[in-house]
Amino acid sequence: MNDTSTLFAIDGRKGIVFGAAGGIGAVLCDQIARHGAELALCDIREAAAVEGAESIQEMGGRAIGVGCDVDREAEVDGAVEQAVAFLGGLDFAVNLTVKQQLNPIVRMTRQQFDQSIHTSLGGSFLISRAVGRVLLDQGRGGSLVHFSSIASSAAFGRGTGAYAASKAGVNALVRELAVEWAPFGIRVNAIAPCQVRTPMLDSVLDNPALEDRGALLEKILSRIPSGRLAEPADLVGPCLFLISQASAMVTGHVLFVDGGFMAQ
Ligand SMILES: NC(=O)c1ccc[n+]([C@@H]2O[C@H](COP(=O)([O-])OP(=O)(O)OC[C@H]3O[C@@H](n4cnc5c(N)ncnc54)[C@H](O)[C@@H]3O)[C@@H](O)[C@H]2O)c1
Repeated sequence: MNDTSTLFAIDGRKGIVFGAAGGIGAVLCDQIARHGAELALCDIREAAAVEGAESIQEMGGRAIGVGCDVDREAEVDGAVEQAVAFLGGLDFAVNLTVKQQLNPIVRMTRQQFDQSIHTSLGGSFLISRAVGRVLLDQGRGGSLVHFSSIASSAAFGRGTGAYAASKAGVNALVRELAVEWAPFGIRVNAIAPCQVRTPMLDSVLDNPALEDRGALLEKILSRIPSGRLAEPADLVGPCLFLISQASAMVTGHVLFVDGGFMAQ
């Protein structure tokens, strides 16, 4: 067996993160940069993306912040182009963007449903296409990671229909791309967390249309065998695994990071 000490090394690797300014994205970008990767941080909230890039620069890393709405084809293509010009190539991309519309199906408007699918699934398509074109053109493989959710595969029944449908679509897209691109050494996987302690989760817990915060939190925890919410830091290891050579033979996989939720 060859030396395996550098299996997880991402030093000098070049990556794009979409949804970089979010609760999980900000922690991931900071940690990926601390492992030596060079990053383009993309988010619809441009100022927050630029701020994230600046804090990486302050600790001696190399990063750029780019404003990008993943609902818009030209903006996704433009962001990838700008990122690749800055980075001088591309090795991996991570997509955390999401538009969560919580409403029971009978009350949900067509527009709310479409928005959820448009951003979460349509955005995943646009990102995959733009990133895939670069990786295929470079001809040296690469790794693409989309964020899914346990909701893609297990029902919550609290207004999560559109969100769940969009994430199930992401899982299917990941499988298709994995098979399409495997001959070219490009791997595509999903990370599917249980509830993560972030502002996004707070907005669910504080949603007046749902149960009160305490009761809802208790219900959520009762379904997670580990007995706690995930923290953004819990997603760092799985992400490093999927973007590094440690997962060289892993593609088309949905990696649940859920404290045993899906094992039940
Ligand atoms: N937080 C959780 O409990 C949880 C659980 C399971 C899965 N996830 C998934 O993890 C990922 C990250 O979640 P999070 O909690 O960090 O969410 P978040 O809302 O904090 O982050 C999402 C980021 O995407 C950006 N964004 C939204 N719409 C965009 C658009 N059109 N174009 C570009 N950027 C856009 C937002 O500005 C934000 O910075 C999501 O895909 C989410 O579905 C989260």
